[in-house]
Amino acid sequence: MKEIVFATNNRHKLDEIGKITAGRLRILSLADIGCHEEISETGSTLEENALIKARFVREKYGCHCFADDTGLEVEALDGAPGVYSSRYAGAGCNSADNTDKLLKALQKTENRTARFRTVIALLVNGEEHLFDGVIRGKIISEKRGTGGFGYDPVFIPDGHAQTFAELGDETKNSISHRALAIHKLVKYLYS
Ligand code: IMP
Repeated sequence: MKEIVFATNNRHKLDEIGKITAGRLRILSLADIGCHEEISETGSTLEENALIKARFVREKYGCHCFADDTGLEVEALDGAPGVYSSRYAGAGCNSADNTDKLLKALQKTENRTARFRTVIALLVNGEEHLFDGVIRGKIISEKRGTGGFGYDPVFIPDGHAQTFAELGDETKNSISHRALAIHKLVKYLYS
């Protein structure tokens, strides 16, 4: 397989996978195949959402494709915001609003354990495959760092002293939930 569609237009994600696959695979974005629709994420799990996006692309455009969905799962919040991570503070809110809401929800909480989890759904040759990647860490009580995106300024991965937003893209991309899932995907595609 020479080309595969990644059902996203997120630059961070496209750059990250471009670095991991290092030219071994030609990755097309949704814009590259002329898909400008917002694919609604109506599932109640990361797995469902990843499959919804990948199936949409396969059915409408007939290409090999994969899609991902990620959630921040906080132990003291019973796994929230989880599948609702992108709209935790409500529809129309941005990452800063979501992060502020999270810090508020944890204000009086000692247990700061959390994890990022990514699920990738791959649709090739009429088959569906799921891959996941998990990174554990903790949520600090104030934002630190300017890199990354989303909840990065408040998440410190286990074994590190800095947030994802302080560690920089290179370090983050070598250990992140998404990188782990992408590595599994790439390994499968090349096996
Ligand atoms: P998505 O499914 O990858 O679009 O992620 C859903 C939401 O999770 C995003 O809107 C971000 O708020 C958050 N998120 C996903 N990946 C990351 C990450 O690598 N760092 C911080 N937040 C993330």
